[in-house]
Amino acid sequence: MKVVAINGSPRHYGNTQILIKCVLDELEKSGVETEVIQLGGELVRGCSACNFCRENKNLKCDIDTDIINSCIETMSKADGIVIGSPTYFANVTTEIKALIDRAGAVGCANGNMFKRKIGIAVVAASREGAINVFNSINNFFLIQEMIVPGSCYWNTGIGFDIGDVFGDQEGLTTIRTLGQNMAWLLETTHKAT
Ligand SMILES: Cc1cc2nc3c(=O)[nH]c(=O)nc-3n(C[C@H](O)[C@H](O)[C@H](O)COP(=O)(O)O)c2cc1C
Repeated sequence: MKVVAINGSPRHYGNTQILIKCVLDELEKSGVETEVIQLGGELVRGCSACNFCRENKNLKCDIDTDIINSCIETMSKADGIVIGSPTYFANVTTEIKALIDRAGAVGCANGNMFKRKIGIAVVAASREGAINVFNSINNFFLIQEMIVPGSCYWNTGIGFDIGDVFGDQEGLTTIRTLGQNMAWLLETTHKAT
């Protein structure tokens, strides 16, 4: 079983990555293979609404000049997908929005190719707006017919400077529980198929 995590923060080793690592540590304890893709900080284009993905149906976005097709391909091969984003003005980062729009369009054009994969959102914020980021990422998962496990609180870690999330004990517990729930669901669904 494999899970890919996409870090949408331009701070490669910032709070989002710390939270992603908390999830991946729990998954690895259960024997799940993991991979992180660093998306934040990459130059990416948004969806151009060309609709070629609907014509081509080749599991790819017609824009092939940035990292998004590589993300889509890795996501399509994984059993689970973690999307992590810091909160930027109560929303996802630009890079995550580009991924959601383009992977979302390609997914819909190809018979919901991410269907029944397990998806979780991981959000860093310094104060407010994280719930909107959480909702945006979950809206992507849910319209792709993916399965979304929960945790004991919404999946947020609080901190401003790099490393501040280590001081948010409740957030870390929430994220570790989330990782355990994802591992349980992966194992359970894997056994059933
Ligand atoms: C452009 C920008 C906008 C931000 N907007 C918000 C916001 O709306 N709400 C919030 O709580 N924090 C906001 N922050 C703070 C980050 O979400 C916070 O520092 C987070 O921990 C960064 O995660 P990272 O270390 O993974 O980049 C913003 C930061 C930046 C750079």
